[in-house]
Amino acid sequence: MKIAVPKETQTGEQRVALVPEVVGRLTAAGHVVVVEAGAGAGAMLPDSAFTDAGATIVADASGTLDADVIARVAPPSAEETAALRKESVVIGFLQPLSNGAGISALANAGVSAFALESVPRISRAQSMDALSSQSNVAGYRAALIGAQELGRFYPMLMTAAGTIRPATVLVLGAGVAGLQAIATARRLGAVVQAFDVRAAVKEQVESLGAVFLEFDLGGDLEGEGGYAKELTEEQRARQQELLAEAIGKVDVVITTALVPGRPAPKLVTTAAVEAMKPGSVVVDLAGEAGGNCELTQPGETVIHSGVKIVSPLNIPSTMAEHASQLYAKNIQSLLELMTNDDGGLELDFEDEIIAGACITKGGEIVNEAARAAASGQGA
Ligand code: NAI
Repeated sequence: MKIAVPKETQTGEQRVALVPEVVGRLTAAGHVVVVEAGAGAGAMLPDSAFTDAGATIVADASGTLDADVIARVAPPSAEETAALRKESVVIGFLQPLSNGAGISALANAGVSAFALESVPRISRAQSMDALSSQSNVAGYRAALIGAQELGRFYPMLMTAAGTIRPATVLVLGAGVAGLQAIATARRLGAVVQAFDVRAAVKEQVESLGAVFLEFDLGGDLEGEGGYAKELTEEQRARQQELLAEAIGKVDVVITTALVPGRPAPKLVTTAAVEAMKPGSVVVDLAGEAGGNCELTQPGETVIHSGVKIVSPLNIPSTMAEHASQLYAKNIQSLLELMTNDDGGLELDFEDEIIAGACITKGGEIVNEAARAAASGQGA
């Protein structure tokens, strides 16, 4: 099987889909790997590291087009999609629910496109769960951004010049990013609280040394596939009200709440921000889906009544080295599932991971949610 790694073209994307360590494993297993020159530069991986691992470097993306599988991070541009060879397999973060035009173009190009966002979150697919591996990076970084933006210490300090009380951090949404943010803020010495509508995460939050805030919003809010359900209007208003009090008492709020395919729930109201002490910080990870804070401007820092609301986008790209390492392992695991015993490409659509991740095939958008999203977006 021939596997290609083009250089990422989306603005600001520093990650690369495969790293030399994984390339070495793939070439040792008999696969041919071609890498576009400079593809690893953003992740501090020179071309020579890829050739040492058995890859061939090609001068530009045209040298990657005859591959069976094209591994990428961000979706291909319109021009890149148009150049794809029919029947090739494209794997990446293809944004199946928000990139209607791109998904339709992939279908029209006749490629089999696999979106890592659509890999089912089941135990067998854990090693392929790139959303989780990258959210881990984002959660870690969010805690550091909070510390960086705050003019206060995270840990308690007892010095000759007096005692400093530890900072308090509130993490809203205790999924993958949230749990990593909790763990990181705790390691830095902050006192951490967390809230999630899924009561099942209480134990995990507590095992990290944080306090789980318990609010009764009514009903079981865990939905399909372990994801949260979207709250009713009434539950949302109640949540905002209950959270406002907790938010007013902390130094840093890190928000990570998400219901896949839905706009980010607004958990932090303008009034709640106004109740925070000046100098406090809100780090909103959900900017791409509109933000968990009413004042969030995705990709920007807003200062409102002395409180900084920071909403960094594509955080994993800012830690491209480790983010790429984890991502490449996810791709390797998915490739193993797509390969038969002779090392050839064999897609078993009876397999729920293959079927779940497949977005386009044979000229059609085969994923129902992606199809509905694309037609809703006029694509
Ligand atoms: P996840 O699905 O593992 O966690 C989301 C959590 O939010 C779940 O535990 C869910 O129960 C909770 N939640 C949903 N609705 C809620 C509500 N109304 N109140 C409280 N909790 C609620 O998702 P993951 O992977 O941890 O990602 C979290 C967020 O971070 C997402 O919005 C994702 O897009 C974003 N993200 C942002 C990045 C960036 O660079 N800015 C990078 C990676 C992830």
